Amino acid sequence: MGKDNSEGQAGGQGAGPAGRVQFFDTTLRDGEQAAGVNLNVDEKLQIARQLARMNMDVIEAGFPAASPGDFSCVQAIAREIKTSTVCGLARTREGDIRAAAQALAQAENPRIHVFIATSPIHMEYKLKMTPDEVLDQARQGVLLARSLAPEVEFSAEDASRSDLEFLVKVFRTAAEAGATILNIPDTVGYALPEEFYVLCRNVIEGVAAPAGVVYSVHAHNDLGLSVANSLAAVRAGVRQVEGTINGMGERGGNSALEEVAMAIRTRKDFYGLDFRLDTRRLYPVSRLVSRLSGVAVPPNKAVVGANAFAHEAGIHQHGVLAKRETYEIMRAEDVGSTPAVMVLGKHSGRHAFRDRLEFLGYNLTDTEVTRAFEIFKRLCDEKKDATDGDIEAIVSDEILSVQPEFRYEFKEYSMHVGGENTTCTVTLSLEGKELSDAATGHGPIEAAYSALKRIIHLQPRLENFKIAATSERSNAMGEAQVTLAQDGIKAQGSGASTDIIKASIRAYVNAVNRLYATAAVRKVALTAPAAQGAGRGSALR
Ligand code: KIV
Ligand code: ZN
Repeated sequence: MGKDNSEGQAGGQGAGPAGRVQFFDTTLRDGEQAAGVNLNVDEKLQIARQLARMNMDVIEAGFPAASPGDFSCVQAIAREIKTSTVCGLARTREGDIRAAAQALAQAENPRIHVFIATSPIHMEYKLKMTPDEVLDQARQGVLLARSLAPEVEFSAEDASRSDLEFLVKVFRTAAEAGATILNIPDTVGYALPEEFYVLCRNVIEGVAAPAGVVYSVHAHNDLGLSVANSLAAVRAGVRQVEGTINGMGERGGNSALEEVAMAIRTRKDFYGLDFRLDTRRLYPVSRLVSRLSGVAVPPNKAVVGANAFAHEAGIHQHGVLAKRETYEIMRAEDVGSTPAVMVLGKHSGRHAFRDRLEFLGYNLTDTEVTRAFEIFKRLCDEKKDATDGDIEAIVSDEILSVQPEFRYEFKEYSMHVGGENTTCTVTLSLEGKELSDAATGHGPIEAAYSALKRIIHLQPRLENFKIAATSERSNAMGEAQVTLAQDGIKAQGSGASTDIIKASIRAYVNAVNRLYATAAVRKVALTAPAAQGAGRGSALR
């Protein structure tokens, strides 16, 4: 298999060296649209800082017209991030474009991303517009955006189900109006790689945009083909790839940027392309996104999964020990995941602890580091040393989960285990006031969750409950993941502790806080049950 980048030099690829791919991260916009995910400003800033540190070319920070919260997030990121382009999404409507320009006002390198759908089904049923009206909206939208920002990207939503001739016409119009990035989305994840390659070639050749215009791809993963489609687009000459960390996003998600980047890097013999992204930051940023969003990374996930570099079969272990390349095509170090997990212990200093926190993607204040360090030292007394997973659990659970916008804070619990009649008492705090209640259940988790439901006066449906160890050692912490559903809203939460009941309660409380946060954004009132204590567990008082 040899080098095959001959077709990657298609006309109009003017921005940046022809042999370079740019990455556009939309974790904070499209990624956050995943069910149950709701990141606050502080969480989005933490992720944006890490994306900037890994040299992400473009960070799509949000959709400013969507909500005041989204506006503030884009504004905060635009104010702080200076080394990546900061982008805000807008429909072709004047209000959206002005909101995006306003939110990006303090950005060093702002970009407005204007989009309108071009497929027959979207134009007829969603937009209720004729193709000519869509064409006119695209022109007007880009013209206005270009008058307010130095860089404009145009996306033809549902491009993969659009008529090619019309698509080419819309892109040409957008380029003439001043868009210098033309994005080809596979919005519903319908395309197949061979077909998408042909579509991208036809668009690039048909539009024949002037030098300086970059073609871009934005693929969704409904058929599990988003990375393959993104790579097919790159082969066709596209030089910007859009996606999210861990492939997080609505439905099947978006293209996982870490997978696209590592495919281009590992198969440089085929693509012959470079990029600016520091791949050694992929694993830490993946962990950070997973922890803040509450969306777990499957262990077998390519590039960043816990087992991505683990060899179980004896024959493989033998091969790797003899020569690593027998079974490894990438090195764990190249994605920032150390093969022998770095362990800090009771003799580690605050400096080493802080360095590790920064490597893992946490930029904490001095006070937060001091608090985390104290908890870490206490943990080392209990279990001698701590892994990356333990450190992350401390930060997300003990430091970041007590931000003021979080509603309930876990205080303590006590349990009397008695088989079918296990009793649990839980104490939470709400705005400084302590709230306690107790319930019985068929086991510790049912009893604890019944007590929690009594305290929060809600009966959320428990859609998912998982518990796993943060490392493979017998003294590992337990990490619980919970998904709750209430009034049409889903929320995920995680919690960790050396005590798995505590971890499970924390995960539940975390998910409840996120339910409230999402309900506030969507202006939904969470409804209390008709009768208190209607769950399977029974109340004691
Ligand atoms: O999937 C999509 O089409 C989008 C556009 C806004 C680019 O997210
Ligand atoms: Zn999308």
